[in-house]
Amino acid sequence: MTAFTPDRPYNALPLLPPPGDIETKAVLKACIEARAAVAELKQCGSLIPNQAMLINTIPVLEAQASSAIENIVTTADRLFQFASAPDSPVDAATKEAFRYSKALFSGFQSVQTRSLTTRTAIEVCSIVQGVDMQIRRTPGTALIEANSGKVIYTPPETAVILQEKLSNWEKFIHKATEFDPLVRLAVMHYQFEAIHPFTDGNGRTGRILNILFLVDTGLLEIPVLYLSRYIIQHKQDYYQYLHRVTVEGDWQSWILFMLKAVFETAQWTTHKIQAIRQLMEITTDYVKTNRPKVYNRDLLDLIFVQPYCRIANVVEAEIAQRQTASNYLKELCDLEVLQEIKVGKEKLFIHPRFLKLLTAETHTVTPYESL
Ligand SMILES: Nc1ncnc2c1ncn2[C@@H]1O[C@H](COP(=O)(O)OP(=O)(O)OP(=O)(O)O)[C@@H](O)[C@H]1O
Ligand SMILES: [Mg+2]
Repeated sequence: MTAFTPDRPYNALPLLPPPGDIETKAVLKACIEARAAVAELKQCGSLIPNQAMLINTIPVLEAQASSAIENIVTTADRLFQFASAPDSPVDAATKEAFRYSKALFSGFQSVQTRSLTTRTAIEVCSIVQGVDMQIRRTPGTALIEANSGKVIYTPPETAVILQEKLSNWEKFIHKATEFDPLVRLAVMHYQFEAIHPFTDGNGRTGRILNILFLVDTGLLEIPVLYLSRYIIQHKQDYYQYLHRVTVEGDWQSWILFMLKAVFETAQWTTHKIQAIRQLMEITTDYVKTNRPKVYNRDLLDLIFVQPYCRIANVVEAEIAQRQTASNYLKELCDLEVLQEIKVGKEKLFIHPRFLKLLTAETHTVTPYESL
């Protein structure tokens, strides 16, 4: 192992690929399971007629959890509400976590046309931080353990060294196709965090890049894996396994940790999406039966695109003019599908069953009792 001292810049951070055979039997076995779970997620997501329903909602859950890893504490509910009423007063944590959703979305758009590079990381980190970010040029960045105040890791320093490590990282992402993409994902996430190219925001940027990588390699079509769910539930392991790669060269535990994270969250997200489909079906039946005149496929879709809806959303979707749009939403309130609330000056219509389903651990769909 190359010498590592916690409070000295780790300029000897080895370039990729990792030494030795990292694709052991255990890794390959976990890989097969994780790949199958991701393939199922991809398939299940494609069955949702309007992809905006997933693109607008699952990444918000990811934003909430990934920000919480950094002790930026808000709820998915507040994030959804803020997305629909951006002019309403809001706390700093919600604003910051909202930037994470924006960065994920913008990164997703970026990988549609350009592959994932250091440039993508700079753009993502700039949105996460809300200011233009650059690769570090000055010394002084270190990871400090919260309880003891001790320095546990000091990333490499000087612009030239960071450039060298980042271009090696980029090459590994795209060229090391001898490794399974999910193994590459685990390796690239460690390496990105070990390089720690920015003064702040590296954890969140790295976790966004994970999702973008899955889209870039085609394992997913849209950024809907809720990976930070597992990471925050196993935050100590996450930090510890990252650290053990540095100190002991223990790639096995780290890769297995990430494969399990992908496996479990892919399954969880698939079940969530299946439940969303089920809720769409029962809501459609319920509205069709009880208010056939209000039933409109586009309107029904719209209330699943965001759990907080404004009259303007209905108008913008060209479903109806303002007055009719308002009447439609009021009729849905009569049916108790929606519920009208006021946020600041904004009138919002919550879709409580959808909101509850999105924010719950479980995937239970609350049925409608016939009126
Ligand atoms: N021992 C370690 N070696 C390398 N990287 C680590 C280690 N421990 C933690 N990390 C990574 O560093 C991140 C923290 O870095 P930084 O504060 O720049 O990012 P952030 O987005 O502001 O914070 P956070 O990760 O807490 O969201 C962690 O989230 C993790 O990904
Ligand atoms: Mg930080």
